[in-house]
Amino acid sequence: MKKRILIIDDETPIQESLSGILEDEGFDTVCASSAEDGIKLIHEENIDLILLDIWLGDNMDGMTALGKIKDSFPHTPVIMISGHGTIETAVQATRKGAFDFIEKPLSYDKIILAINNGLKFSQLEEENRLLKETTIRKANITGKSPLIAALRDQIEMVAPSDAWVLIRGDHGTGKELVAQAIHQSSSSSKKPMIEVNCAAIPEELIESELFGHEKGSFTGAHSSKRGKFDQANGGILFLDEIGDMSLKTQAKILRILQEQKFERVGGNKTISVNVRVLAATNKNLEEEIEKGNFRADLFWRLNVVPINVPLLKDRIEDIPLLADSLLLSLLDKGLKKKRFTDDAYKVMMQHSWPGNVRELRNFIERLAIMCPEETITASQVSVFLGQTVPRGAAADSNDAMAAYRADDFKEAKKLFEKEFLAKKLAENDNNITKTAELVGIERSHLHKKLKTLELI
Ligand SMILES: Nc1ncnc2c1ncn2[C@@H]1O[C@H](COP(=O)(O)OP(=O)(O)OP(=O)(O)O)[C@@H](O)[C@H]1O
Ligand SMILES: [Mg+2]
Repeated sequence: MKKRILIIDDETPIQESLSGILEDEGFDTVCASSAEDGIKLIHEENIDLILLDIWLGDNMDGMTALGKIKDSFPHTPVIMISGHGTIETAVQATRKGAFDFIEKPLSYDKIILAINNGLKFSQLEEENRLLKETTIRKANITGKSPLIAALRDQIEMVAPSDAWVLIRGDHGTGKELVAQAIHQSSSSSKKPMIEVNCAAIPEELIESELFGHEKGSFTGAHSSKRGKFDQANGGILFLDEIGDMSLKTQAKILRILQEQKFERVGGNKTISVNVRVLAATNKNLEEEIEKGNFRADLFWRLNVVPINVPLLKDRIEDIPLLADSLLLSLLDKGLKKKRFTDDAYKVMMQHSWPGNVRELRNFIERLAIMCPEETITASQVSVFLGQTVPRGAAADSNDAMAAYRADDFKEAKKLFEKEFLAKKLAENDNNITKTAELVGIERSHLHKKLKTLELI
């Protein structure tokens, strides 16, 4: 795909000659005559590199624009160009994050070299970020129960094959974690696993999200965009919450999964891909098929290898180990080291954990924050468990109280939202669609919000 370069210069002849030369070199270019217009374009389009003039007439100068660009797009390389550059300005620009500094009159060889270096650098930076992210997110399936041992065996067996997997299990059991574990032991582990949360994307955007779109194909499509299928080519596509996809989208997905070919929205070129699909759902798809909400043919296509993630209450012997490892992971968040008494584990093992490991994780976090002592006792666990709202477990009336105590408006608003939504969710038996209707929020928006507030 062509790299897109934004030229910000108030002199039209310079814009024209630069864009002519860059297009001959195989780049896409867009031009702006002022910093304000340029910054607007960066927000609207996918820009890979920016050429920015320092002197831009009477409006915002290039140096100020550089600061603004770096604030919002720290990873996009910016090359400064200037007619009256001094060493001082060059140093100042580099300090502000410019990748390079080139003086006018422009030597086109120098410009092209600087652009290629800038693009290479940002690509390496991105690879590095990705690598770090995958290391940080290394899937660690904690547990020593026979059920978890069997789950690990299944993952090890299926991961190296190219088989498609349907991961099933209740809320918060660890389906996403299983998908990450499969990815890490697969032959595509060096490539990122591309995730699509089918429940979180509004119906009208799902096609463009999955297949990408061409510039101008609909209002708001200011630039062409690669879809998730494209991005996952040669690797893994993880379709999370597959049971929440509309029948219309299911039909489209099925065709693409079968043919491994598709067209971008507004495009007529057929793109062939080779993707391995992992899908996850907490819905009973057989029941959804009966009700006419899910296509049987799609189910059979996805369900090549089914993996069932067990409920936490069916493997309570894992609770001490999980509680310890979750407590340990809080050290990263700056919380102090704590431990549980043996009786504290016993109390936790008697609870039914309808929200599974996610509920346990939120519960442990709450205990770690609210119990000042280094040792967390059985009675503390009982008290806190007594307060637990089933599912949506992170929220309790403490959130509302905390909202009154918070000084920061944003923090207070967040705590109130959490308390309110947890209640409404519990009243609606955790049905997001019903809750969305009741509180008057669009379903996908509510879903995102619940994820952010860690209520699901
Ligand atoms: N066996 C496990 N060991 C350690 N952590 C786990 C385990 N299972 C789940 N978790 C943690 O519990 C949380 C919820 O897991 P995950 O998001 O994978 O669940 P899910 O099944 O996809 O949930 P949902 O259906 O709500 O999307 C995550 O923080 C995850 O890291
Ligand atoms: Mg999930």
